[in-house]
Amino acid sequence: MDTDYENRIVAPEYSSGNDSEIEYQLRPHSLSDYIGQEKVKENLSIFIEAAKNRGESLDHVLLYGPPGLGKTTLAGIIANEMGVNFRLTSGPAIEKPKDLAALLTNLNEGDVLFIDEIHRMNRIVEEILYPAMEDNALDIIIGQGPSARSIRIDLPHFTLVGATTRAGQLSAPLRDRFGVVLRLELYSDEELARIVKRSAGILDVQMDDFGAMQIASRSRGTPRIANRLLKRARDFAQVLGNGVITDATANMALDKMEIDELGLDSIDRLMLTCMIKNYNGGPVGLETIAAAIGEEAVTIEDVYEPYLMQIGFLSRTPRGRCVTPAGYRHLGFEMPGQQQLF
Ligand SMILES: Nc1ncnc2c1ncn2[C@@H]1O[C@H](COP(=O)(O)OP(=O)(O)OP(=O)(O)O)[C@@H](O)[C@H]1O
Ligand SMILES: [Mg+2]
Repeated sequence: MDTDYENRIVAPEYSSGNDSEIEYQLRPHSLSDYIGQEKVKENLSIFIEAAKNRGESLDHVLLYGPPGLGKTTLAGIIANEMGVNFRLTSGPAIEKPKDLAALLTNLNEGDVLFIDEIHRMNRIVEEILYPAMEDNALDIIIGQGPSARSIRIDLPHFTLVGATTRAGQLSAPLRDRFGVVLRLELYSDEELARIVKRSAGILDVQMDDFGAMQIASRSRGTPRIANRLLKRARDFAQVLGNGVITDATANMALDKMEIDELGLDSIDRLMLTCMIKNYNGGPVGLETIAAAIGEEAVTIEDVYEPYLMQIGFLSRTPRGRCVTPAGYRHLGFEMPGQQQLF
């Protein structure tokens, strides 16, 4: 789950490795190739066109939403559409103020600086960003002790694109400096089907509409998962079928990977089952669930919960998480009558 940030530091390219190479290959490069998120695209295209017409850089953009929905992709598209360089880094990769200062001073006029997981940037580094975002200036302190003095360096105009899975964790001063704040939503099955068809075309895999729909409906609203399932289905179709991903081959691949018809995997099921069996379906605290199933609380919150809540299997209450009647039914458990008393 933990990304290898060291390899991503300021790299304009993505780190190598087979999966990330394919991911790079599958990334749309223009807004018109970017499927779904219609509202976000509509707004962005207007802001981009207006900025270009004025010959200015685009205002700073904050993208937020669950992992794998296309934040990094969209940041790259913004740079492409603006016709500027794309520089990529991440919050935890910027350790010291001087690292960020080096990044900022190396930008060209108009460039996009993408900071992934911007909520994980440390506060001292963050403070460098305020004048940079507001006045295109860098305040640096030279010397130490009584002879120390602060000088101000002008920076080129640039667009900061920040991405986060948790907008709530951003400090208010940082959040307020973004002119454009866009929330990415989980994708519909129909949009995911279009995404896997596009990917199948790029990967030169044959797939029929039923195969695409089967993969889409089990991808829990997330393009990254859809693309990953497509690759596995391709393996099954190649070895056990005639190479074409059909409803049957997709089904077989997904069953083998223990992904059920709604896209729940073994961990989702373990989590719900554990809540039902050990805690009467809740309310149960996030930390307790995390300890019980051996996952980190943040992972549960960012990765598992959004989809389980979206499909109405889990609800959040002030006293903790609860499995809903639909969740009980899906897992084949009887909902106890006394549930109402809690
Ligand atoms: N709208 C889309 N249309 C087509 N493909 C998409 C779209 N959004 C995402 N993808 C595909 O999904 C994959 C994951 O997208 P991306 O890496 O941009 O997600 P992310 O939101 O940055 O995830 P994370 O939060 O984990 O960094 C990419 O390989 C891309 O090909
Ligand atoms: Mg990303």
